[in-house]
Amino acid sequence: MITTERLILRPWKESDAESLYKYAKDPAIGPVAGWPPHVSIENSLEIIRTVFAAPETYAVVLKATGEPVGSAGIMFGDGLHSAEMACGEAEIGYWIGVPYWGQGLIPEAVRRLLQRCFEELGLSAVWCGYYEGNTKSRRVMEKCGFRYHHTEKDKLSPLGDRRTEHFMRLTQEEYSLLSK
Ligand SMILES: CC(C)(COP(=O)(O)OP(=O)(O)OC[C@H]1O[C@@H](n2cnc3c(N)ncnc32)[C@H](O)[C@@H]1OP(=O)(O)O)[C@@H](O)C(=O)NCCC(=O)NCCS
Repeated sequence: MITTERLILRPWKESDAESLYKYAKDPAIGPVAGWPPHVSIENSLEIIRTVFAAPETYAVVLKATGEPVGSAGIMFGDGLHSAEMACGEAEIGYWIGVPYWGQGLIPEAVRRLLQRCFEELGLSAVWCGYYEGNTKSRRVMEKCGFRYHHTEKDKLSPLGDRRTEHFMRLTQEEYSLLSK
């Protein structure tokens, strides 16, 4: 279990399905990130058992209430979706329920995950990608020190449409300068 000032990052549990559905059914969350809104508690349970069972995938839990209100994780290998990503590198992904937007909670979670990537897992670079127009997500990356790397056009999203995706990267060297 990982903690920050306001959050606990812990593996997803089957008993989180109801909370997950409450936030992930909102069409403001999934589609901008490339996945469909959840359609039922059973659907959310299935995601917990499959997608969220991957290593380094965390429920973003508010310390104040104990409720999981979002997800953040580090993806390796097959989960990576740019050919530019190399061995010893990873990608961070995240979302948080609409009622909690704008409180800096995801930047807080991402900064802790970056610490895990570089100081605990010994990675050499961490990537983060956002689809064109997702300014909110780009702001998270900028606040956490990521720098623009490249753009991939005409990419097939998991939802079947074609999108432009911008990739940001933070190297181990850049990270060590940030934390000074
Ligand atoms: C992107 C996201 C994770 C940001 O999380 P967060 O904890 O709200 O992050 P922040 O509080 O730092 O806010 C980031 C930006 O969102 C925007 N924002 C904040 N609150 C907002 C609100 N209530 N309504 C609309 N936009 C808002 C602002 O542009 C803000 O940047 P700023 O601090 O420079 O003003 C969240 O908006 C989200 O889950 N979006 C949908 C899923 C998604 O896009 N995931 C990433 C896929 S790449």
